[in-house]
Amino acid sequence: MIAKTDGVSRDSWSGRFAFIFAATGSAVGIGNIWKFPYVAGENGGGAFVLVYLAAVFVMGIPLMVGEILVGRRGRSSPSDSFRILAGKENASHHWQFAGTLGIVASFIILTFYSVIGGWSIAYLVKALMNGFAGADGDSSAASFGAFLANPWLLIFWHTLFMGFIAFIVSRGISHGIERAVSVLLPGMFLLLLGLFGYAATTPAFTDALRFMFSPDFSKLSAGVVLIALGQAFFTLSLGMSVMVAYGSFLPRNVKIPSAALIVSICDTLAAVLAGVVVFSIVFSNGLPPGSGPGLIFQTMPIAFGNVTGGYVIGVVFFFLLLFAAWSSAISLLEPIVERLESRNGLSRPRGVAVAASAAWLIGCAAALSFNVLADFKPIAGKTIFDILDYVSSNILLPLTGILVAVFCGWVLSTRAARDELDMREGPLFWGWRILVRFVVPVLVVFVFVGLLLGIG
Ligand code: PHE
Repeated sequence: MIAKTDGVSRDSWSGRFAFIFAATGSAVGIGNIWKFPYVAGENGGGAFVLVYLAAVFVMGIPLMVGEILVGRRGRSSPSDSFRILAGKENASHHWQFAGTLGIVASFIILTFYSVIGGWSIAYLVKALMNGFAGADGDSSAASFGAFLANPWLLIFWHTLFMGFIAFIVSRGISHGIERAVSVLLPGMFLLLLGLFGYAATTPAFTDALRFMFSPDFSKLSAGVVLIALGQAFFTLSLGMSVMVAYGSFLPRNVKIPSAALIVSICDTLAAVLAGVVVFSIVFSNGLPPGSGPGLIFQTMPIAFGNVTGGYVIGVVFFFLLLFAAWSSAISLLEPIVERLESRNGLSRPRGVAVAASAAWLIGCAAALSFNVLADFKPIAGKTIFDILDYVSSNILLPLTGILVAVFCGWVLSTRAARDELDMREGPLFWGWRILVRFVVPVLVVFVFVGLLLGIG
């Protein structure tokens, strides 16, 4: 649907669900599958989950509401939206920096997210070719090692993944992203529910539930709270202008707070289901829990290669991972393209070509960090891949988050916020306002300083 705003034609989501699908698609990503389950299990199970839920409600949802609000009111690229809104409040036009910083963050994350997206295609192909049959600990580690050691292979899959993303984003919001997520998101939840059904039949189903949920309050510490806050931030796709960009295409009649609530609940649900699935499979096969790439690309294949029905489960699992990575990566490219369209006057296809090629190129360097450039550690003993990850997740995201919270809490007038959120000045509205004004900035500063000091 093309809506007319301020006399300018601007693409738009066809409705509430299109937006919710796209935002949930962005939120549910690799982080839900390889990170949340493990950090929950390691840091107090149910006790961690409680802290995490508090982080989502106290910090995540209010910030998401703020980002969507700025996007929809500004109806422009993220940096322009901040500038326009700041202008209306007679505040400095430098507030556009909040949007620009988020765009830079999404660009950097896209570079290495695409490399990992490429791995998920490669492993899907491997699963389809029954490549895990009979795998054991050594062979699985050796095969993942050999895969990472091959620069051409990594670049090939990274290129393919980026190509998919570029194709979808170049077709715009309603014809590209909306259509893609209308298949990817329901697909993702069906695959996840199917896997959950399977997990419930495995002997270690209750062990998995216990690992993730049985509360151990003695494990809670400042470091654990920090991890919960950081996880809530990343998994809800906050601090990278994604929700600002997606919000800018949101029709006026959609209620922002309930949309943000639904997205956050679906994201948490996906993380919990994925955790139960992953650990049921891992524990049923007597394998050790772990997080990150090792869990997904080394440990899980051993299970897929040995249990009855492992072929189908493996194929379904890697489809799930690919869908999750795909719908998240799309959302990372969109804010950059919007900026190139509005500021540099590029057409959408050109903007996509420029942004995707630049991200592809840097992504190639990230892919080479696993082989040719493995010993190239230009800063603080970190490879290029690690630097990109560190700078975006630990520095840019929290910084952007602080700016967004301060902007929504202090710069934006009560009238503008209330009008855009379509709320009365009741306890809900003031609850939100107080959270973004005082609580969220303090929490995000805590995350930022904690991450810089390397706690948690
Ligand atoms: N939310 C995604 C995840 O949990 C990561 C992501 C962040 C994706 C930002 C897009 C944008 O994996």
